[in-house]
Amino acid sequence: MAWHKVASSQDVEEGNVIEVKVGETPIALYNIDGEFYATHNICTHAYACLHEGYVEDETIECPLHQGIFDIKTGEALEGPVEEPLETYSVKREGEEIYIEVP
Ligand code: FES
Repeated sequence: MAWHKVASSQDVEEGNVIEVKVGETPIALYNIDGEFYATHNICTHAYACLHEGYVEDETIECPLHQGIFDIKTGEALEGPVEEPLETYSVKREGEEIYIEVP
């Protein structure tokens, strides 16, 4: 496992999500009330980018079939999704955001 600098804290507004990449891995980086979280950015149901979906409280709704995942745990909560999302550890050093990816 290694930490990768992926963004500045100003890149993601509160209640929003952006896509970042570590190598070829697409990752969704969320800002929930000033805390940062990361999950894989591709829905586990079919092919959709979750950063194009909707953040509500601590969940992300997939833009394609409205599957809902828990951002903190990756758990599949509602809709057609069954497989959880992979989640990644996030740390902030000053304005810089790091994600731990294998
Ligand atoms: Fe995300 Fe179907 S692709 S719910």
